[in-house]
Amino acid sequence: MRFPENFVQEVLDRTDIEELIGRYVTLKRTGSNLVGLCPFHSEKTPSFTVTPSKNMFFCFGCHAGGTAITFVQKAENLDFADAVAFLADRAGLPLPREMGEGGRESGVSRKRVLEANLEAAKFFRACLFDPEIGRAGMDYFKGTRGLTEATIKHFGLGFAPNTFGSLTDYLHKKGFTDEELQVAFLCGKSQKTGRAYDYFRNRVIFPIIDTSGNIVAFGGRVLDDSKPKYLNTSDTPAFKKSNHLFALNYARHCCAERMILCEGYMDVIALHAAGFEFAVATLGTAITPNHARIFSKYTKKVVISYDSDEAGQNAANKAMRVLGDVGMEVRVLRMDGAKDPDEYIRKFGADRFRRLLDESRTGFEYKLENILAKHDLSVGQEKIRASSELCEAVAAYPSPVEREVYLSEAAKRLELPAEVLRNNVDRIRRKQQSEFRAKQSREAQATVKNFGDRINPESAKDPKAAAAEENVIGLLLMFEEYRREVAAGRIELAAEDFVTAFHRRVFEAIMRQQAGEDGFRFAMLGEEFTPDEMGRIRKMEVARRELTENGPSVFRSTVETLRNIRNENRAKEGDLQSRLEYLRKSKLHKGKEQSE
Ligand code: CTP
Ligand code: MN
Repeated sequence: MRFPENFVQEVLDRTDIEELIGRYVTLKRTGSNLVGLCPFHSEKTPSFTVTPSKNMFFCFGCHAGGTAITFVQKAENLDFADAVAFLADRAGLPLPREMGEGGRESGVSRKRVLEANLEAAKFFRACLFDPEIGRAGMDYFKGTRGLTEATIKHFGLGFAPNTFGSLTDYLHKKGFTDEELQVAFLCGKSQKTGRAYDYFRNRVIFPIIDTSGNIVAFGGRVLDDSKPKYLNTSDTPAFKKSNHLFALNYARHCCAERMILCEGYMDVIALHAAGFEFAVATLGTAITPNHARIFSKYTKKVVISYDSDEAGQNAANKAMRVLGDVGMEVRVLRMDGAKDPDEYIRKFGADRFRRLLDESRTGFEYKLENILAKHDLSVGQEKIRASSELCEAVAAYPSPVEREVYLSEAAKRLELPAEVLRNNVDRIRRKQQSEFRAKQSREAQATVKNFGDRINPESAKDPKAAAAEENVIGLLLMFEEYRREVAAGRIELAAEDFVTAFHRRVFEAIMRQQAGEDGFRFAMLGEEFTPDEMGRIRKMEVARRELTENGPSVFRSTVETLRNIRNENRAKEGDLQSRLEYLRKSKLHKGKEQSE
């Protein structure tokens, strides 16, 4: 998908490049720049530079460089459009909707979707509290799930009656169109007529509320064991699953110390009702790095409280990693005798759950228990296997203090001397390190080789021309004034003046943008150039910035130099016009002029 230029600009405006790159690279401030070790090549002294005032980065070592979009393209291996979407997502900007079937963009706004959602939530709640219409739903919440009326109201729960048209009719009367209701995902679209019909039917409804209090989506659960258990709102202009956590609107007020992450809506509701109002859940998806970043905004520590079955425990392992990756302190809660927190609290009460919470294990303890549970330590072979699995786990911790603590814990449980395990851990770490170094040097070699000039292969054939072109482009990138001069023909410079194809492409792209409505925007070059090419383009500008002389006369003379080189080349190739032009300008000719 191609995004409108102003959307790309908005995404960049809303992206704090220092904060973005700071998540990947440890940055230190030096004057108006920030420097760190380049994430794109291996180095020991920092040559990677972020310039927040320009919203750009550049590595003086490997010449990676560009905008926040270029950075995300390289770091997350995404194409331009996906990198823009990635950043929009982080900034909480809804994507412009893709072209509709008729090639027409859906004109339904985020605001309109939120308005429809609010009306729908009121409708669902009124249905639930209606003694006749909502009986089945109310029986389910109060009877089957043991919720109080206060909790039901607190979460704004509702009920969708078993009809195809009641919500649709109601919202039509409120002035919403079929298209709006379909885009909001409140209604399905009839295959035959294209008309809207109620999407949620005969389900209890969980509204999803964002931290500003907007109702952004709904989850609807069946009342029995039929399938599918849940229907959820898909992405709309007002909603993207991975941007939200259920009940964060409440949890954000009491989560400074820790948060609980569960799997289900019902778990969160039961926990809040029992006084654990810092519980949240993802919306039926596995936890993503984006979720992890949301957590890191609100709290330092997350206690994962997933279902106790195998699927839940595997998911907990993954969540541990994703949260650990953003520097979160992670603990895992282990429940016995219940399948999930909701059931646990109903069976054993809030106090027992609080105890579990306080005893929740660190990531290592959790792994330790899992590994020990898998092996029968009274069998020699099994004990060896358990010990080597534990050593691998210990070796994975970068902090020597942590390793020492976990190592002695493991030794105690295995009833082995700590010394034995320590040797093993050291061996594993040495092996990992040499593998890591080998990988790094392979990458570094590949980098060096590629710089032979993969990006502009023709520069080797004519280094003089390529250098002149770089100067011209660098100056064009720096100053609008020069771009205007060239566009207006006041300075003669055309694509044909460029010898190397890459630089010619860059020149053409710059001038094309310059001529367009929105003028030149560096970021938009990302649409047609790869991240590596972007780095090279950025380099041309950075190199010129280093120089103090970049005034108009310098620009004129660099353009002149380039034209002369070009003419010289053409003259060599036997082009008569160029030969004459070259002669007119050459010293030889001027020398004659003077002597005449
Ligand atoms: N989920 C979903 N679609 C499904 C099943 C589950 O979106 N078909 C999501 C829901 O967000 C749900 C969560 O995954 O809350 C956890 O699933 P599960 O444990 O099956 O549901 P619970 O809400 O815990 O329901 P219950 O306790 O009633 O089984
Ligand atoms: Mn459950």
